[in-house]
Amino acid sequence: MTTTLIRGGTVVTERGRRRADVLSRDGRIAAIGDKLEAPAGAEVIDVGGCYVMPGGIDPHTHMQLPMMGTVMADDFFTGTAAAAAGGTTTILDFVGPEPGQLPLEALAIWRERAAKSAVDYGFHMTVSWWSEAFSAAMASLVNDHGIASFKFFLAYKGRLMLPDEELIAGFRRCRDLGALVQVHAENGELIAYLQQKVLADGITSPLGHALSRPSQCEGEATLRAITMADIVDVPLYVVHVSAAEAADAIGQARRRGAKVIGETLPGFLAIDDVVYRAESFDIAAGHVMSPPYRPKGHQEAIWRAVETGTLSTTGTDHCCFTKAQKRLGLDDFTKIPNGCGGVEERLHVLWHLGVNSGRLTPERFVALTSANAAKAFNLRPRKGSLEVGADADLIVLDPERTRTLSASTQHQNTDFSVWEGMQIKGVVTHTLARGRHVWADGDLRAERGAGSYLPRKPFGAAYTATI
Ligand code: URP
Ligand code: ZN
Ligand code: ZN
Repeated sequence: MTTTLIRGGTVVTERGRRRADVLSRDGRIAAIGDKLEAPAGAEVIDVGGCYVMPGGIDPHTHMQLPMMGTVMADDFFTGTAAAAAGGTTTILDFVGPEPGQLPLEALAIWRERAAKSAVDYGFHMTVSWWSEAFSAAMASLVNDHGIASFKFFLAYKGRLMLPDEELIAGFRRCRDLGALVQVHAENGELIAYLQQKVLADGITSPLGHALSRPSQCEGEATLRAITMADIVDVPLYVVHVSAAEAADAIGQARRRGAKVIGETLPGFLAIDDVVYRAESFDIAAGHVMSPPYRPKGHQEAIWRAVETGTLSTTGTDHCCFTKAQKRLGLDDFTKIPNGCGGVEERLHVLWHLGVNSGRLTPERFVALTSANAAKAFNLRPRKGSLEVGADADLIVLDPERTRTLSASTQHQNTDFSVWEGMQIKGVVTHTLARGRHVWADGDLRAERGAGSYLPRKPFGAAYTATI
């Protein structure tokens, strides 16, 4: 195991910042303090003028996910290597059983796929169908396999969507097991109706994707999920919040003390639905994800929700496809594989748009990219902070350095980027993942299989406090 001294940086946690050196030894943080001595043989990284922060935790990825007749383009190695290049040192991915497949069988498949991860990883379980057998297996998932969060879909009618009766049963089961309920909140019935209507109107292009998933569908489903979770009395985590109506529902619920946590994605802070009117099919389809990018105005509402603490975490929903894969829906927008990349860009975009503009302090940046996810998903004390004894997952960010984001230079295994051409200021120059120097000033040293599985305990911070 290596020993590394990070010298001369400004150490930031979600609680504050100070000038200090950080010593990593045997994968853990061994010391934080002034003018630390470099042990014999230690690698020394001088980072004067830069920030030293906890490695990013991306609580929402879909590596190697089979979806809509194809498979998401990144496997667990390429995706986690790209994550490391962008400063993310932990991912939480979703195990997705096929309809009728028992969750423990699906978990075994995901464990095998994820064994090649370059950074640490944990899992949520998608409740893709419901039965007594699924419900029974959840106890073993929580107690024997460290899966303490379950995602329910209110959208994707005919595939993943569960009716309210089954949602309520699933929420109750989570409550009894101490697990966190996650929801993809869009009204699947309305979307199915609108998809048929938009197609009947002759719109087959990617624009139809946005037209058939208006923000009201997200607002309604978010409020419904909050209401069900409230009455069942289980904490709720709403993934990928994109719409003002959804953020409002979460804000109101939190103000009256409901245990609701909201996640958003960097794209929902910056990109609007004009992208679906691009002349190029590849560009418009490249942005097809659910929920979709919203009309102008929603981005500002999501920013306000992030600034005021209504939304507590950021993920990426990393689920990228190549242009060729997206062309599966050339003649019918409902057949375009849903999803965009982003595991590599999240920290850069959030720093550039948030910290450089003064909307976020570096401390709040840490909360949004790492600390709050560690709390919500019970990864403390190993992850999400820089403390002696914690895993040496950390990044060095040079606030003066600039870069242009592009598909041609990214490590994500796709030929498209929703951030194409964006110039950002503030660049992750080094990433340490459990003490291993995996990103060294442009040199990607991610190792296949170096990441470890992170079993998680139930009853996370979401049960006792709202982050
Ligand atoms: O479009 C998306 N978000 N694809 C990934 C699956 C999901 O809905 O989270
Ligand atoms: Zn989703
Ligand atoms: Zn997702």
